[in-house]
Amino acid sequence: MLSRKKTLALMGAAAFAFASGTASAADNTVEVIHWWTSGGEAAALNVLKKDLEGQGYAWKDGAVAGGGGDQARTVLKARVAAGNPPTTMQMLGLVIGDYAAEDLLGNLNDLAAKEGWEKVVPPALQSFMKPEGDWVAAPVNIHSTNWVWANKKIFDDVGAEIPTNWDEFVAVLDKIKAAGITPIAWGGQAWQEATVVDALVNSTGGADFYKKTLNEADQDALRSDTMKTVFDRLRKLKDYVDPNYPGRDWNLATAMVINGEAGMQMMGDWAKGEFLNAGKVPNEDFLCFRFPGTQGSVTFNTDAFAMFKVGDDSKEAQMALAKAIMDPGFQEAFNLVKGSIPARMDVPGDKFDACGQKAMADLKEAVGNDALMGSMAHGHGVPEGVKGAMYDVITNFFSSDMSSEEAVKNLADAVALAR
Ligand code: GAL
Repeated sequence: MLSRKKTLALMGAAAFAFASGTASAADNTVEVIHWWTSGGEAAALNVLKKDLEGQGYAWKDGAVAGGGGDQARTVLKARVAAGNPPTTMQMLGLVIGDYAAEDLLGNLNDLAAKEGWEKVVPPALQSFMKPEGDWVAAPVNIHSTNWVWANKKIFDDVGAEIPTNWDEFVAVLDKIKAAGITPIAWGGQAWQEATVVDALVNSTGGADFYKKTLNEADQDALRSDTMKTVFDRLRKLKDYVDPNYPGRDWNLATAMVINGEAGMQMMGDWAKGEFLNAGKVPNEDFLCFRFPGTQGSVTFNTDAFAMFKVGDDSKEAQMALAKAIMDPGFQEAFNLVKGSIPARMDVPGDKFDACGQKAMADLKEAVGNDALMGSMAHGHGVPEGVKGAMYDVITNFFSSDMSSEEAVKNLADAVALAR
């Protein structure tokens, strides 16, 4: 994020641009900044685009490649700084609150009231959509990060069962390695490594430990022996990756599992979108299971479209977009392709595949267990500055020979500085 002071200064420029009309789009145009550029992501986005175009609106595509959205968020900052925000931007979790606090987002309260969003959107999501009490964003899905995606044939060939705890997991990885196959398709980018740490923290310390470390950034928990074990395990995983992992995009890692070049990938359920886009079927071609040791809990991230303050001439198109996103039929159609599940609880699950139905059941179970947590790796756990500090330590650890003791100290120190 920009510092509050700096952004406020820039807002003056934004207000001027609006007043002089330079920032307003044509009447019926929605400009959408997003990072959905992989095959599965683009297919899902197309459902929204077609919906809007079918209603007579023009779609101005602002795709910024880069999984997890870091690059897109950088572009957005520049656009806002130039006084030229888009109609809407794909946003994750706490970032919505950052822009709302700068008073840059529009108000969706009337539409939300008319359409009854309060009744159908789970409370855990609403707090991110209404960071200051007003609806400023429309949630399109619920993803979660504690998943493993496996090539079924490889599992069958080596005689592997779905592992349910760390030791079983390591045993499966050893079996695949012994068969001469890369066990883990690893994407060596900070956000992907943080996604694996989401799962490792949850698996190693449980839901309460996850909340303490990756939601509350509690210093004692961050400096604990359990956190050291998390880094020991992260180090262990490096035994199972191929040498070409640095910088690899997440969807290329998924492709390795799809093509049988690697046994599995630890990734959020947008990976399922890639399998589906390649014509693969759950339980026939691929397996989905919770990261061993995290059964009964869910670390979630929700993609939302935050609506920027726009001039009167663009409002109708913006509201049409928000309404389309929240439509139950759209939520079903979109999430069937994206790999996630709907952000509304009233969408039936019968059209969803085995992994989607499992995601829905797991979510309910996690709520019952008080084990539904916002994903650190995907902006729902800690503020952006703290998240960035965590990313840096995690990725430096994985690519170096830093000890787990050092990593724990570096992590806690970096977090303390960033808060
Ligand atoms: C996440 C986002 C997902 C998916 C993924 C990879 O942050 O929530 O929808 O796009 O990044 O790009």
